[in-house]
Amino acid sequence: MQQTLVLVKPDGVKKNLIGEVVSRFEARGLKISALKLMKITEEQAKFHYAEHAEKPFFGELVEFITSGPVAAMVVSGENAIKAVRGMMGATNPLDAVPGSIRGDYALTIGENIVHGSDGEESAAREIKNFFTAEEIY
Ligand code: RTP
Ligand code: MG
Repeated sequence: MQQTLVLVKPDGVKKNLIGEVVSRFEARGLKISALKLMKITEEQAKFHYAEHAEKPFFGELVEFITSGPVAAMVVSGENAIKAVRGMMGATNPLDAVPGSIRGDYALTIGENIVHGSDGEESAAREIKNFFTAEEIY
C-alpha cells in the first residue's frame, strides 16, 4: 500500500477537470484518502517544488501553482505512486500518450493539469505539506 500526493493544478480546476481526474483514479481501483480545494501559499509552493529551486522556470512554477485554487488529494493503493504517474503521462503533454491525463487534456509543459509525487520520499514530504494526519482516511 502506498500513498501519493496529487494536485489538480489551477489550469485543471479552471477547465473543470477535477471530477474527470478523480473519476479516472477511482475507476482504476485507487482510493481517494483525502481531498480539498485550496489556494497554495507561496511558502507551501516553494517547499513543494524545492527540488526545482535552481531551475530557470522556478519563479513561473511557483507563480502558476499559486495563481488559483488547486484540488489537493491523497491517492492510495498498491503501487499508487507509479500507477498515478503512468496515468498522468509525460511531463510535456506533447510527449504524453493519448489516454493519459496530460495526453488528453493539455498542450503545454507549464500548464499540464496534474501533479503526482515521483517517489516514496517525496510523497511523504508532499502529503505533510498539504494535509494533517487527521485529514487522511
Ligand atoms: P509534477 O512535479 O508537476 O508532477 O511534474 P513532473 O514530475 O512530471 O515534472 P517535474 O520535472 O517535477 O517538473 C515540475 C513541473 O515544472 C514544469 N516544468 N517546466 N519549462 C520547463 O522546461 C519545465 N520543466 C518542467 C512542469 O509544469 C512540470 O509539471
Ligand atoms: Mg515532479
